[in-house]
Amino acid sequence: MPELRPEAAATLRPLIATVAAAPAESVFVAPPADRAAEINGLNWEELRRSVAACRACGLCAERRQAVLGVGDVFADWLFIGEGPGAEEDARGEPFVGSAGKLLDAMLAAIDLRRGENVYIANAVKCRPPGNRTPEAGEMATCAPYLRRQIALIQPRVIVLLGRAAALSVLGESGSLASLRGQPLAYAGPESAGSAIPVVVTYHPAYLLRTLPDKAKAWEDLCRARSLMRATKASAVQQT
Ligand code: URA
Repeated sequence: MPELRPEAAATLRPLIATVAAAPAESVFVAPPADRAAEINGLNWEELRRSVAACRACGLCAERRQAVLGVGDVFADWLFIGEGPGAEEDARGEPFVGSAGKLLDAMLAAIDLRRGENVYIANAVKCRPPGNRTPEAGEMATCAPYLRRQIALIQPRVIVLLGRAAALSVLGESGSLASLRGQPLAYAGPESAGSAIPVVVTYHPAYLLRTLPDKAKAWEDLCRARSLMRATKASAVQQT
């Protein structure tokens, strides 16, 4: 091992020892430089296989299975959460636990149903241990998969559920309160056309704990529905 300056050694030696002692599969594997470009060329089936086999970050160590997403791959609506929880990890589908039931009710409130013109995905595809919030590095490693999903689906409106999704998709680390109601848009590197309008709202798991904020989520959903109508109307005008 190269000699370390004393001040660096104090910080680095414990880290080096931790990494050396960790089981191989829990150590972060640096993605190859062209990983994002490779993922960007995948079709749905290839994407599914790639996500199922992914070992690009430490989350793979404790997952039962990776959870790609669920729904209509031609959907106008894309809802993005944080990451699978225990039930999602067991069943291989996003939002199937109690937060999922609330998400279904939120969809129904604006006349939507899971799987019908709606796709549901997460910022990370593997369950963070103990259902913790995914770390920024884990979301960054998983982001090429999410970006590819967005590029393949080409939704008209994206609804981000919670701060983790906002950070992953928009790179916005502000408070949820500061992001709600803002005119936000996603313009991924792959999006050849115009940017996709984005609405940030509360995560259903948060709403289960904080019932008074349900009214604010309802406002956000109504805003998303108006944006959808406007996007469709402008598409009709352009034809
Ligand atoms: N919470 C999420 O963010 N995603 C899920 O799939 C389930 C719970």
